[in-house]
Amino acid sequence: MVLLRYLWTVICAVLITTGAVSGEDVKKAVGDTVIFRPDKFIPLVTSIIWKQKNTAGTVVKAIEWDEGEILIPNPRFRDITKVDEKTGQINITNLKVEHSGVYTIDINSKEQEQRFTLTVMERVPKPEIKTQKIKDNTDVVYLNCEYSETIIWKNSAGETLTGSPITPKGESITVKKTGNPETFYTCTLDNGASKETSDPVYERDLFEDESKSGSGLIVGIVILIIIIIACILIFLYIRNEKFKERVNGCCTCFGGPKDKGPKLTGVKPNSESEPLNENAKVGGQQEANNVKEGELENTPAETADDAELEEVKTNPENENLNKDDKISEPKAAA
Ligand SMILES: *[C@@H]1O[C@H](CO)[C@@H](O)[C@H](O)[C@H]1NC(C)=O
Repeated sequence: MVLLRYLWTVICAVLITTGAVSGEDVKKAVGDTVIFRPDKFIPLVTSIIWKQKNTAGTVVKAIEWDEGEILIPNPRFRDITKVDEKTGQINITNLKVEHSGVYTIDINSKEQEQRFTLTVMERVPKPEIKTQKIKDNTDVVYLNCEYSETIIWKNSAGETLTGSPITPKGESITVKKTGNPETFYTCTLDNGASKETSDPVYERDLFEDESKSGSGLIVGIVILIIIIIACILIFLYIRNEKFKERVNGCCTCFGGPKDKGPKLTGVKPNSESEPLNENAKVGGQQEANNVKEGELENTPAETADDAELEEVKTNPENENLNKDDKISEPKAAA
């Protein structure tokens, strides 16, 4: 019996408590719709007045229904507010921050106890994740979400990740390379009235394949160097006669070693030029190796004209100085 009484007391206490709390506390985002409906609405209602007490404490009529007539005196509620005379329900669409406040309803000119608290908040923006690379560690990055609202981090497995606060605002998570390029991360903002989730950030975009990019860079540099060298060579070949001659000579020596002999001998008898004679002398004494040298240093003797030009130039200077050489000439020739 005592127990039953005690139980009854507890039930009463609970009922009273919930009754006292009676009311609603609603958070909405700008542009949303809110609906409030009184718990007590006993028929034979002849008038309804919904009132708003805004955050500054000012009370205004939101909407009034009186014997079939609807009045919306305050422009703040015009065109967006409706009331259902059978239930007392109020609808406010296209909410703005200024609609925040405490709403009460008068039924038959009697204010009801129930309180409806509305908080209209700006819609959260769609967040954007910023990647912050770490200099010394290419397998780890920071993902930052720089907003003041509550931030929820998730990965592609649907797990919630714990971020750490960053200044001036927001949170950061540390992401390690998992090896799966399809792994992704999102950041969600929640201000209680609206939620927005960022585009996912995929692992494949977080960690550069170093070997790939590194080798790509090296290949690029090598190609560039080759192109530059090729250009220099072509330029030299076109502009620098000596270089051209050397190249041609080199090509000859690589292309046909058999031509060397005949050409050298062919030039020698014709010319009395000292340089050629000198070559001839050395060539005669030391044979093949020196022949090559001679060919490289002087004109390749491929074109007889070139050789003759050389002769003309050098002849007068050296003729007397190299008489001894002349003696050796026949040797080489032979
Ligand atoms: C209020 O909105 C609800 C839900 O959209 C709708 O069913 C109801 O008819 C609306 N009431 C009025 C009076 O427009």
